[in-house]
Amino acid sequence: MQYQEASEILAQHEQSQILRFWDSLKEEDRECLLKQISDLDFNSIAKMRNLLEQRDVEARSPQTGEMTPAPVSELHGEAHDAAARIGSFEIRNGRVAAIVVAGGQGSRLGYDGPKGCYPIGPVSNAPLFYFHARKLLGLGKEWGSTIPLYVMTSQTNDAETRKFFKDNAYFGLNANDVFFFSQGMWPALTPEGEIILEEPARIFLSPDGHGGTLAALDKSGALADMKKRGITTVFYFQVDNPLVEVADPAFIGFHLQNLADISIKVCAKRSPEEGLGVAVERDGKIEIVEYTEFTTEQKNERTPSGELRYKYGSVAIHVFSTAFLKREAKAGLPIHLAFKKVPYCGDNGKTVAPSKPNAYKFEKFIFDTLADSKATCCLAFDRADEFAPVKNAEGNDSPATCKAALVAKWARWLEACGVKIPRGADGAPLHNIEIDPAFAHSEHALKLRLASSKIKIDTSKDILLS
Ligand code: UTP
Repeated sequence: MQYQEASEILAQHEQSQILRFWDSLKEEDRECLLKQISDLDFNSIAKMRNLLEQRDVEARSPQTGEMTPAPVSELHGEAHDAAARIGSFEIRNGRVAAIVVAGGQGSRLGYDGPKGCYPIGPVSNAPLFYFHARKLLGLGKEWGSTIPLYVMTSQTNDAETRKFFKDNAYFGLNANDVFFFSQGMWPALTPEGEIILEEPARIFLSPDGHGGTLAALDKSGALADMKKRGITTVFYFQVDNPLVEVADPAFIGFHLQNLADISIKVCAKRSPEEGLGVAVERDGKIEIVEYTEFTTEQKNERTPSGELRYKYGSVAIHVFSTAFLKREAKAGLPIHLAFKKVPYCGDNGKTVAPSKPNAYKFEKFIFDTLADSKATCCLAFDRADEFAPVKNAEGNDSPATCKAALVAKWARWLEACGVKIPRGADGAPLHNIEIDPAFAHSEHALKLRLASSKIKIDTSKDILLS
């Protein structure tokens, strides 16, 4: 794209301010800016501006039907085993893939690097990516098959993420079975709808939300790659939860038993105020309603037995059929906006970091695909076993709570295998414990592994089984 063309397009879309430093830019900076301008998606930007104009009226389409809690299934005993057999059969036949979304900015954690590189192993300090990759390795070994991993990055962390996998020998996975793809980036707008420059020659861009996964899967060729491999079912999860049972055979089997387009794992909310999206049913469809859209009264509503009426929250653990992903990739999800602090370029060309929100960022949400799902199922899980995300630097959902949850889970596994774990007065194990998922990816796998080996576990110090 040349200056003249850029200038005309920007004028047509009332965004000429982007070129306001043009005369003072060096040649290479001009090229970068022109490239950014040519990448702008003005269709989406028009939708964003529309959304901005309506923000005080009603951003979402009005919901009319009565909202009730979504029906949620539980899997125990023979029902669990039957579902697990179906899921394992699919894994064994190479029809299952996993997608990890790792394009987020990790701003609450404040970690300088891709969140998946964050060290979380309670003994080894191994990174988040390690636990996900090794779980796939363990499952693949068990079933004599490969579960390809699709890693969604963003422009900001793509190169670093690829390098990290390479430097760590793909954590034992075959490099050909790890497919990186980058989500889209969107500009931020001032309340008046102007695109923000971060530097004289750089437009501020941020990832287009986890809903960006769908278009990115299509654009990157990941969907075509899945087709080539004969993948029909995809397990989707977020990078910041090392407890997740990646490619859980029972969940996959449950999804297939129900001929679902999407299945959602849900868990009981910690408290009425916990900020998880809640699974509800409205007009015959399952939806995830954001925490912020619930009134205080709704959040606190109880059933006669004293349980929260809207008890089940979604933690973004899903199974999708690839046919549905393919349809949705073309569908175009709704856009959501949030008022945030966005660094901007002052008139003197210097970047200003605002102390309070000054502009709108836009995102797509993966759960908006539910509106198009012909069959959606919700499955309850125990959060102590499967959910302890690393979101904040301290307090709830921090590295400390996540490591404690990992240690507690592995202590339960070891105890189920007959190992006596010393515990302190608060009930927590006295020493750190870590089990490489490629050594044992489940309690059952650990039992088999310990029974068939001569490993002596010294419980008087930290335990690392790998
Ligand atoms: P979060 O919004 O909870 O985490 O996204 P974050 O983006 O890592 O951190 P904050 O909000 O800036 O503090 C949940 C998951 O979705 C992924 C993240 O990588 C994380 O696994 N995600 C989020 C994306 O892949 N892309 C996005 O645009 C947003």
